[in-house]
Amino acid sequence: MSPSLPEIILALDLEDRGQIHQMLEKTGDRLSWVKVGLQSYLRDGPSLVRELSESGKKVFLDLKLHDIPNTMAKALESLSDLPVGLLTLHASAGPEALDRCARLAKESMPEVTLLAVTVLTSTNQEGLQAIGVNDPVDDQVLRLASLSTDQGIGGIVCSPLELPRLRHSLPASTKLVTPGIRPLNANAGDQKRIMTPGQAKRAGANFLVIGRPILATPDPRDALESILEELNSTEI
Ligand code: C5P
Repeated sequence: MSPSLPEIILALDLEDRGQIHQMLEKTGDRLSWVKVGLQSYLRDGPSLVRELSESGKKVFLDLKLHDIPNTMAKALESLSDLPVGLLTLHASAGPEALDRCARLAKESMPEVTLLAVTVLTSTNQEGLQAIGVNDPVDDQVLRLASLSTDQGIGGIVCSPLELPRLRHSLPASTKLVTPGIRPLNANAGDQKRIMTPGQAKRAGANFLVIGRPILATPDPRDALESILEELNSTEI
């Protein structure tokens, strides 16, 4: 992968396994990555992840782990046999948990990049204050992102608008994974702070997590193709 060409991860936010398989047939070989979140993982379990991997997809397992350091490390051990390429945990679990998880992943899951989630985009300034954080949201995002990379975590999930600051402030090797992507002609839905695929590429994203702009179109393959085209034709 060229460092300047982000990869697309299709968020499999679908009601059942049947729909997931239909969608994979529709999107075809041009799609390399899929995201399995809590909704599907808790419903379908590890066998879904294995099935996706056997069908040739790389899997982003979005479980957003958050617990005491020992429990997080044990949770990672439980996942270490699964064919996963990206896995999320909460940066606010703190330095010890991040450090233990980063070490464990390096030793036992060398093919996995751990991604830290900082401030959830559903949390605004008021929400942060309610849990005792008085700093601006952007500063808290950068604090948690830097803490994560300092402890050896390989990537950060961030909103498109956080991309420029994080790309500038974090080590160049840090993978930035961004939802909230909307092609120009797509419906924004409930996403508010959005960027087009081309803008996110220019801002330094490595992976774009995209759901409804592909899932909710009459021709998902065509939607995927036009996003890929936009990415290919966007100059840095
Ligand atoms: O359909 P859409 O493209 O909005 O889907 C984006 C995916 O990224 C969904 O799976 C959503 O849960 C996830 N996500 C997000 N915003 C975040 C974190 C995750 O939209 N801040």
